[in-house]
Amino acid sequence: MTAQVVLSIFLILTPLLNGFEAFFSYLSSTNEQIIIGRFDEDIILPCSFKSGPKVIIHWQNQGTNNVHSYYRGSDHLERQDPRYTNRTSLFQSEIHNGNASLSLRRLSLVDEGIYVCYVGTEFEKSKNIVVLKVGAFLMPVMKYEKRNTNSSLICSIRIHPPSNIMWKMNNTTPVSESNMEEIRSLGPSYIKSTLDIIGSHSSYECAIENSLLKQTWMGRWARKDDLRRMQSEHVSLSCQLVNNSFPPNQDFRVTWSRVESGTSSVLAYYLSSSQNIIINEPRFSWNKELITQSDFSMNLTDLSLSDSGEYLCNISSSKYTLLTIYALHVEQSQGTASWYILLLMLVVFLVLAIFLILSVPAIKCCLDRRLRHTYFGIGNIS
Ligand SMILES: *[C@@H]1O[C@H](CO)[C@@H](O)[C@H](O)[C@H]1NC(C)=O
Ligand SMILES: *[C@@H]1O[C@H](CO)[C@@H](O)[C@H](O)[C@H]1NC(C)=O
Ligand SMILES: *[C@@H]1O[C@H](CO)[C@@H](O)[C@H](O)[C@H]1NC(C)=O
Ligand SMILES: *[C@@H]1O[C@H](CO)[C@@H](O)[C@H](O)[C@H]1NC(C)=O
Ligand SMILES: *[C@@H]1O[C@H](CO)[C@@H](O)[C@H](O)[C@H]1NC(C)=O
Ligand SMILES: *[C@@H]1O[C@H](CO)[C@@H](O)[C@H](O)[C@H]1NC(C)=O
Ligand SMILES: *[C@@H]1O[C@H](CO)[C@@H](O)[C@H](O)[C@H]1NC(C)=O
Repeated sequence: MTAQVVLSIFLILTPLLNGFEAFFSYLSSTNEQIIIGRFDEDIILPCSFKSGPKVIIHWQNQGTNNVHSYYRGSDHLERQDPRYTNRTSLFQSEIHNGNASLSLRRLSLVDEGIYVCYVGTEFEKSKNIVVLKVGAFLMPVMKYEKRNTNSSLICSIRIHPPSNIMWKMNNTTPVSESNMEEIRSLGPSYIKSTLDIIGSHSSYECAIENSLLKQTWMGRWARKDDLRRMQSEHVSLSCQLVNNSFPPNQDFRVTWSRVESGTSSVLAYYLSSSQNIIINEPRFSWNKELITQSDFSMNLTDLSLSDSGEYLCNISSSKYTLLTIYALHVEQSQGTASWYILLLMLVVFLVLAIFLILSVPAIKCCLDRRLRHTYFGIGNIS
């Protein structure tokens, strides 16, 4: 009996799936592909074969788990591993073209492994191996926390495979001592690194790389010189997106906020995708023309003493976060001071005037007495 006859008998009898891979086991000519998927996203595990009648497709994971079976023109999922329930499908309309690829949805990290695609037709049989790797790169953020004495920067991400967060100071110097935490869970690990800010004018950078997904992210923080303004004046704080290191065609979000110990309040934000501008502070203004040139410098008018504090410009996309911080000191203006002096002089004047008015009757009476004295004096003479 030739192998083909054996196969056709096998196919006609409908496979007992456990014996299926044993039947294919002597197949040596296999091609192996590495497929990289993303956590929580969908992926196609490729498998192709030379089309023919009576197609059997059987996808298996790690040699034992049934992932998806198809024969006699339809799916047979009775023996499917419950981990794959509702997450697999074949491209039914493509099967007759020799396409046995499997769509696998909502990837989890435990989906990683070796998948084997067994396909048999009346004339041929084949075996494809797909090695699935799953990576995650979720929610990278750089946070700035102002505390009473020291301020700190926190970079964090949910990532798989776990990796390090690299810090640099003043663009070049690597920072070795940082406080790194890793929380491993069922999903991707949560990694967080905290760095105290030392020196008043330094800049810091944190970088995270996922070598599996070939994805990188970077956070940059810089403090600008302190600014001094008088009350009721205005201040312009500059914040620009320099295009040399960032792809300009990427969506980003710009936020200006006021940072206080423990909290921060958003003054305004801009979304590049919709070009939407939301302004929460009536004294804040943005120059629309400059925005089209990626210049997000802001203007805050009619300053008051309570506007003293830190201001943060945050430009963020999926690839980077750029933070620029300013410290603003609003002082009592000269104009206001002279106004106070004027007010003081007015009060003194008023007090004097009142004093004078009140003392008029007394003066009058004294004058009268003196006049009477004179009169009587004259009278005495006459
Ligand atoms: C199978 O068909 C799907 C849907 O058209 C396609 O995305 C996939 O690349 C095909 N796979 C192969 C191996 O041809
Ligand atoms: C699969 O889908 C069916 C129908 O939508 C639903 O009733 C069932 O609960 C789902 N099972 C799982 C494990 O999600
Ligand atoms: C900067 O903006 C991004 C996106 O809106 C946000 O996730 C991040 O927390 C912000 N960072 C700071 C320090 O405000
Ligand atoms: C502030 O930072 C300095 C230098 O890193 C450190 O010696 C000091 O203990 C820090 N203070 C607080 C309150 O964290
Ligand atoms: C970083 O550079 C700034 C000026 O460019 C300097 O004032 C500061 O001291 C430097 N920081 C450190 C820690 O070297
Ligand atoms: C930014 O991009 C424009 C146009 O692509 C280019 O002319 C300009 O030199 C770039 N600026 C920087 C600082 O790279
Ligand atoms: C900021 O506002 C002041 C007062 O309205 C104005 O004189 C100044 O030109 C503005 N500056 C910018 C850069 O828009």
